[in-house]
Amino acid sequence: MSRMTVNDRPLEFEMDPQTPLLWALRDAANLTGTKYGCGNGDCGACMVLIDGAALRSCLVTIGEAEGRFITTIEGLSRDRSHPVQQALVAEQAIQCGFCTPGIAIAAAALLRSNPNPSEAEIKAAIPNLCRCGVYPRLVRAIQRAGRVARRLETISAAPAPGIRAEDAAREVPAIRSLAPREAE
Ligand code: FES
Ligand code: FES
Repeated sequence: MSRMTVNDRPLEFEMDPQTPLLWALRDAANLTGTKYGCGNGDCGACMVLIDGAALRSCLVTIGEAEGRFITTIEGLSRDRSHPVQQALVAEQAIQCGFCTPGIAIAAAALLRSNPNPSEAEIKAAIPNLCRCGVYPRLVRAIQRAGRVARRLETISAAPAPGIRAEDAAREVPAIRSLAPREAE
């Protein structure tokens, strides 16, 4: 049994502590925005914020995540209003979208420490693989997100998600919410 805070909600996973965090998030917590790409730490599709650092959740067990604060793509913002999300859409830096959640998480972590990154700094900080090859647009999007974060520019809100957040995050038997939120 492993306890942690996921997207501001305390959760208790009734699973083997050796279970990769990626599986717990996707299969138990129903937070399927975090993607399974390689399972080996190579692609970055599974990145989540753990205590503010972008880490590959396929390489972290829920035992290691005990007591930590996890943010998945579902928790980056409730309405796609995070500057990275806005800029990825505005710069059309998304094709199939499979890599996008991990990239958004990595970019959010980068901009928190460096709100005005150069192209070289972005390439060094974003190791994520994209089979669709959005890299040039990605650089533009992250730099634009930095300008939005620094209040030098605004972008209209990204389209609303097609699924309600409470549906996406509905509970399943493998987890127990210690302090469930009031219905929103
Ligand atoms: S699935 Fe974790 S790095 Fe590829
Ligand atoms: S947009 Fe398709 S893998 Fe990156």
